[in-house]
Amino acid sequence: ATGTEPQQNSGGVRTTARAAIAAPHLRTDRWWLAPAVTAAGLLAFVVYSTWRAFANADYYAAPYVSPFYSPCLAENCKTMPSGPNADLFGSWWAISPAIIILIFPLGFRLTCYYYRKAYYRSFWASPPACAVAEPHRTYSGETRFPLILQNVHRYFFYAAILVAGVLTYDTVLSFRDPHENWGHMGLGTVVFLVNITLIWAYTISCHSCRHIVGGKLKHFSRHPVRYKAWQFVGRLNARHMQLAWASLLSVALADFYVYLVASGVFADPRFF
Ligand code: FES
Repeated sequence: ATGTEPQQNSGGVRTTARAAIAAPHLRTDRWWLAPAVTAAGLLAFVVYSTWRAFANADYYAAPYVSPFYSPCLAENCKTMPSGPNADLFGSWWAISPAIIILIFPLGFRLTCYYYRKAYYRSFWASPPACAVAEPHRTYSGETRFPLILQNVHRYFFYAAILVAGVLTYDTVLSFRDPHENWGHMGLGTVVFLVNITLIWAYTISCHSCRHIVGGKLKHFSRHPVRYKAWQFVGRLNARHMQLAWASLLSVALADFYVYLVASGVFADPRFF
């Protein structure tokens, strides 16, 4: 025996249909670093956002409302009346109003092409990295239940546009002082401006958006406006991973800023 014979019946990369290589992978670099860092980053966000979404407190510091809690759709919303609030869920809704709307940004990111790659690699090791064999016996990809449900991403994209619209409205409202007078600006306004820019850039750079804008066309020359828009989205799309991380960080920071001001850690510095 040479040690390189395929081990029959063990499935996965050891079947006779696959190359008879003894080593599970031939890479000698630190290929595990990227999935490990990805897993740590995603876990940190999940822990933080779960704590904040269930906290049901410190999500409003006039004129700022946390992006995790907007739009606020329950009667127990403790935000300014002129914000994007509607008592759709009435007084029977007793838990955190963030839970009502979280499904939309969460669903958008969970089904995002980039995040799929990130958590398939870092949490499911399917595969853990390029040219590293996956440990699973079988692979059905996204062709069957449950992963075929990832196809709902294109619909989450439309929901994400609405959510980005609401956060844009919140950013406009942040140009007021705590007494709702217009023409003012604080450090929170800058935090909100950076966040909404990154949220839009991430949303527009979506692969589904690229297809909606430029897909199903036979001749770009007959659709010059869509061609220009497709080129623009394509340029952003090339940075989709970076924008996914930057906007994840910025939305957490915007929420954390509201938390710090609302809980009295410091007062929002006002520029004018
Ligand atoms: Fe990432 Fe659509 S592919 S948001």
